[in-house]
Amino acid sequence: MKSKNLKKKYIEFFINNGHKEIVDSPLIPYNDPTVLFTTAGMHPLVPFLLGQPNPSGKKLVNIQKCLRTGDIEEVGDEFHLTFFNMLGNWSFGDYWKKEAIEMSFEFLTSKKYLGFPIEKLGVSVFGGDKDAPADEESEKIWESLGISSERIARLGKKDNWWGPAGKTGPCGPDSEMFYWSSPEDVPEKFDPSNSGWVEIWNDVFMEYDKDSSGKYKPLKQKNVDTGMGYERVFSILEGVENIYESSLFTPIIEKILELSSSEDEKSLRIIADHLRSATFLLAEKIAPSNIEQGYVLRKLIRLAIRRGKLLGIEDRFVSKIAKTIIDNYSEEYSHLKKNSLFIITEIDKEERKFERTLKKGMSVFGKISGEKVSGTEAFLLFQSYGFPIEMTQELASEKGMKVDLKGYKSEFITHQKLSRTATKGKFASGLADQSEETIKLHTAAHLLHSALIKVLGDDCKQKGSNINPERLRFDFSFDRKLEENEVRKVEDMVNKQIKDKVKVSKEEMNVDKAKKSGALGEFSHKYGETVFVYSIGKFSKEICSGPHVSNASKLGTFKIVKQKSVGAGVRRIKAILEG
Ligand code: SER
Repeated sequence: MKSKNLKKKYIEFFINNGHKEIVDSPLIPYNDPTVLFTTAGMHPLVPFLLGQPNPSGKKLVNIQKCLRTGDIEEVGDEFHLTFFNMLGNWSFGDYWKKEAIEMSFEFLTSKKYLGFPIEKLGVSVFGGDKDAPADEESEKIWESLGISSERIARLGKKDNWWGPAGKTGPCGPDSEMFYWSSPEDVPEKFDPSNSGWVEIWNDVFMEYDKDSSGKYKPLKQKNVDTGMGYERVFSILEGVENIYESSLFTPIIEKILELSSSEDEKSLRIIADHLRSATFLLAEKIAPSNIEQGYVLRKLIRLAIRRGKLLGIEDRFVSKIAKTIIDNYSEEYSHLKKNSLFIITEIDKEERKFERTLKKGMSVFGKISGEKVSGTEAFLLFQSYGFPIEMTQELASEKGMKVDLKGYKSEFITHQKLSRTATKGKFASGLADQSEETIKLHTAAHLLHSALIKVLGDDCKQKGSNINPERLRFDFSFDRKLEENEVRKVEDMVNKQIKDKVKVSKEEMNVDKAKKSGALGEFSHKYGETVFVYSIGKFSKEICSGPHVSNASKLGTFKIVKQKSVGAGVRRIKAILEG
C-alpha cells in the first residue's frame, strides 16, 4: 500500500466491516472542561464508552488528531511525537476481542492493506495482576492467527493497560502490536524493550470502570478502543527508519537546515516536532499565554527557539517553519490555511517576546555554578525570563548539572502565578472525570454561559473552562471587571433555573439544524454530522456530548466565588455549588 493511501484504506476497511465514519474532534476539546487537550481518540468518546448511545451507532471508525506532552523528553528519538494522528476503530458494546484482533491482523497482513510480513510482527498482552486476570483469550486468538508464542509477550499494567483517561472511568487490558523496523535481522523472540520493535497499534478491551476508591468494577458494556499511530505506520510504508525521514517531515527538516549552520539531529527533530504541534494548536485559535493550553503552546515554541540557537540560527525563524508546515499540510488540513494569518502573527509575536528575555536569562543561567540549579534559581528563570522548566533542565544537563525540581515546584505553588493546570499535573491526571459533582458543575457551567450572555451581551464568548469535583472555572471574552450587581444578576438567573426545577433535555440533530436553532457551540463539524444538543429549559441550548444532570434542581445553590482577568479581554469566573 502507498503511504498516502493509508488513511483512506483504513477507513474503507472498517466501513467494509460495518463501521460508520465519524469526524474528529478538535485538539482543544470543546465542551469537555475536564481535559486540556485531546490526547487519545477515547477522550471525546468517553460518554459512549460509559453506555450513552452514540447517534452514529455501535461500530465507529475515525482519525483523531492528538497532542501529548507527557513524554516530551522522548521527542528526538526515532518515533516519538507530541502531535500525531490516531486511526481508530470502536465498538461500544458490540464486537469483542476475537473480532477486534482478527480485523487488526487482517489489516496488518493482508496484501490489500498494509501487507506486513507476519515474521516482522510481535504482540503483547496483559499478563494479569490483582485487579484483572491475564488475557489468555487474546493470546489464544493471536496464536490461532499464526503469531508464534515466541512473539507474544505478557506484560503488566504499566505496559498493557489503557485508561482511565482521568482518575476514574472506563479502562481495561490492551494488546499492542509491534513492527520490526530495524534493518538488522528480526530476532526470534519478541522483546518490546529492543528499540527495533516499534509499537504501531493498540487494541484496548475496555471492560472495567475504575471508581474513586481505586476499585475496578465491570462496565455496563464491553468496549473496544483501538488506536494506530498514523505517522509511524506511514513512515514504515515509506521504508524509512524514522519518522523524520518520512515525507511528512522532510520538507520541514529541509527548511530548518536551510536556516541552520550546524546539523544536530536531535535539535532538528525537536524543532520540527514542536513547531508542527504549535502550528496545529495555533490553528485552533489558541494564543501563547501563561495558562493552560496557551502555556503548553508557549513552552513548545520556546523549546524550539532554544534548539534553533543550538543549530546556529541567528535570525527569527519560527514563523518561517510554521509557513512551511502550513504549505505542506493545508491540502489535508484546510483549517491551517484558513487561520494562517493568526498562526504566523502569533508565533512570530511569541518569538519576539522571548527574544527580549532569552539573552539575559542565558547570562543569568551562565552564572549559576555548583552541582544543582536550585528551585529558587529555576523559578527565577521561569518567572523573570520565561524559561520553561524543561528548558532549564536541558541547559543544566548540558553542563552536567541537575535541577531541584521539587524546590522549583514548591516555589511555583507558593507564587501561584500560574494556573495549576499549566503544570504537568493536569496532564497526568485531570482528564475526562465523570463524577457526580463534576457532572453537576458541568450543567452549572452551561447555565453560567447563558446567564453571562444574557447579562453582559453576545460578545461574551466562551474561551475555555475547567471543572473538577470542587468547582468550575469559566473563561470568557469580556474586557472589564463585572460589577457587584452584575455578578448577583448572573447568580440569580442561574439559581432561578435551579429553583424552578428546569428540566435538562437532550436531542440528536444535524449540525446545521443545531446551528439554525441557536444552539451555542463550535461549528467546525462537517455538514450532515449528527450531534447532541443539550437544553436546560428555554434558558440554555448548547452542542455537547454531556453528560449532564436530568434536572437543574439537582444542583444546589450556585455561587460565584472569584473573578479575575486572565489576559487581554479575557475574564475568568470561579463558581461552586453549595448544599
Ligand atoms: N486509547 C488507546 C491509545 O491511545 C487506543 O486508542 O493507545
